Order: sequence, then structure tokens, then C-alpha cells
Amino acid sequence: MAKVHNFSAGPCILPHEVLHKASQSVIELDGTGLSLIEMSHRSKEFVAIMERARELVKELLGVPDNYSVLFLQGGASLGFYMAAANFMKNEGGKAAYLDTGTWSTGAIKEAKLLGEVITLASGKDVNYTKIPKNYTVPSGMDYLHFTSNNTIFGTQFKSFPKSDAPLICDMSSDIFSKKINVADFDLIYAGAQKNMGPAGTTVYIVNRDKLGKTGRAIPSMLDLALQHEKESMYNTPPVFAIYVSMLTLEWLKSIGGISEIEKRNEAKAKLLYDEIDRNPLFKGTTAVEDRSLMNPTFVLTEEAAGHEEKFDKMWKAAGVSGISGHRSVGGYRASMYNALPIESVKVLVDVMKELEKNA
Ligand SMILES: Cc1ncc(COP(=O)(O)O)c(C=O)c1O
Repeated sequence: MAKVHNFSAGPCILPHEVLHKASQSVIELDGTGLSLIEMSHRSKEFVAIMERARELVKELLGVPDNYSVLFLQGGASLGFYMAAANFMKNEGGKAAYLDTGTWSTGAIKEAKLLGEVITLASGKDVNYTKIPKNYTVPSGMDYLHFTSNNTIFGTQFKSFPKSDAPLICDMSSDIFSKKINVADFDLIYAGAQKNMGPAGTTVYIVNRDKLGKTGRAIPSMLDLALQHEKESMYNTPPVFAIYVSMLTLEWLKSIGGISEIEKRNEAKAKLLYDEIDRNPLFKGTTAVEDRSLMNPTFVLTEEAAGHEEKFDKMWKAAGVSGISGHRSVGGYRASMYNALPIESVKVLVDVMKELEKNA
């Protein structure tokens, strides 16, 4: 198989050993004579997988005992609604949101179906190239919601908002990439398909003490308290996505856990951003202090005018894949999730240097 340097924004690169083991398990899971995907989710084998996946999330992130870890369906996009359904008061509900781009606006749209949304600050007027910093959280909010990393525009919160209200975070594109203090949040949710596994499951890490206080009737599938009670098995869970997530988290633990991956992610981001800043043919598209370690975004400068086609041919020839920017913003985005080795970043940086030499 030709070596591909996979910078895809999600679904994205997963560790090779995880893919290998996952593919074997589709044929037969660990000597059981059954495929992972043809056995009951109530079997002792799958119950153990679910339990192990939960344990790994708790261990890697240091989840407090009064929090539940749930593996549900519907993607982070359903999480937008579920966050509101489980935390917004039924009567006179009011929640604060920080708008840092496409995913935050998606979350705001869903929350408006259930109550009043106060957008405290927005990066819209600067095309989401900066994380808004000057805002105060009014009292009486049911919660404050933000998106920790903006996958599309390439910005990331370097420190998290503080609030007396419950703090809710869509952490889809940087969960497991760096140390966090889970106790600072009351709900974290994240689609699996960046740093955790394949699309198909969404992890919810929720402070149980804050559930059941809205006075709202919540549909069973969306009710985090019920999903906790049923151990994420109110209905048939997405067994394959959960299994591969478990394998990926096992891999993360085996390489040294969050502190090790954080160092690796910082080194990869430094390598690429240093080149973006050094090379006169490239420039970053976001405020330097808000640059995402997961999704660096950049464009060619005027000096490189007319070289776009050449650059595109060069990176493709070098085996680089998936660096075209999101269809809504253009330019380039090199997503560098946990499983991307630094060698792939070196290949991309070498192509950028090569373009400078040949321009
Ligand atoms: C930060 C963020 N939130 C939400 C989503 C939507 O996730 P899903 O496709 O799992 O619904 C994405 C997808 O890329 C994302 O990056």
C-alpha cells in the first residue's frame, strides 16, 4: 500500500495497529468464533468492551466519580440539541453561547428550539479568525456553551471560559489531545471521528449531579440520566464504533496517555506553524494566539500567485492527502489529529520548502 500522509479533518487518520486489530475482529473477535458485528451487544464480550471503553475515558481524562461516560449515537450534531434538552430549564430557560464558527452556530440554532439563547460574543465579524475574549457571563444562565476547537476555521480556546453556570463544551475536534480538568465542565460531548475512532458514536461526559433539573420531559434516547441508568444501552449501541474507539484509547494509553500525546501534538503544530511563518509563500489565516493545534489553516501569499496548481501537484505527488480547506472557507487546512505521525508533517513542510525553491 502506498504511504499516504492523511491530514483529513474527520473522519481522519487512526493508528495503523488499531485498524489492523479492528479488521481482524470483524472476522472474529478474540477467539470467540464470532465476528464483533454479529454478536449480541448484551454478550459478556461486548459488555466488557463497553466497560473497558468507559474505563479508558475515565482514566485518560481523570473523570471524577460523580460523572458518567456515555457512548451514544447521532453525532455531535445531535449533541447540540441534547445539551440544551438536558440543561435548559423548561420554563423561562436561558443559556449563554460563545459563537466561534459553524459548529457553535449549529449548537445555537438547536438550543433556540428549547429556550432563549444569549450569544455573549461572536467571532463572526472577523470571519471567525479569532476567539472572542471580552465578554461577561450574566447571572441566571442555565449553562454556558462553547466549542473548544473550531475545526473549520482553525482556532482553539487556549484557556477555557469561567462561569458560575454549568459549563458545556463541544470538544469534538480536540478531546484527548491535551490535558483538561473535567471537573471544570458539567457536560463534554464529542463525536468520535477525530481523536477517538470511527464516526458512529459520540462520547458524553456528564456531571450526574446536574441532571434531571430542567422540569422538561426529554425523549428517552436523548435523556442523559436514562442513558446513564441503561449504561449507554437503552437501545442497540453502535458496537463497531465503540469497539474501535476502545482500541484507539488503548493505543493512546500505551504510548503514554494524554501528557505524551500533548507533547507530540505541540511538536507537530510548531513544525508546521514555524514553516507557515518563515516561508514567504505562505501565511496563516487565524490570530496567532488562537491557532488550533489540531487544524492549522493557511493560504498562499501574493508572492506565490500563480503557484497554487504547482503546489497542489507537489503535495499530492508526495503522498499528502486531505489538506484542501473546508468547502466554506477555501485555502488549506492540515488537520493533525493524535494518530498523525510527525513524519507526515515533515513531508508537508518539505513540500512547502521545495515550492519556495522552485517558485
Ligand atoms: C467541533 C465540531 N462539532 C460538531 C461537529 C459535527 O459532528 P457530527 O458530524 O458528529 O455531527 C463537528 C464535525 O466535524 C465538529 O468538528
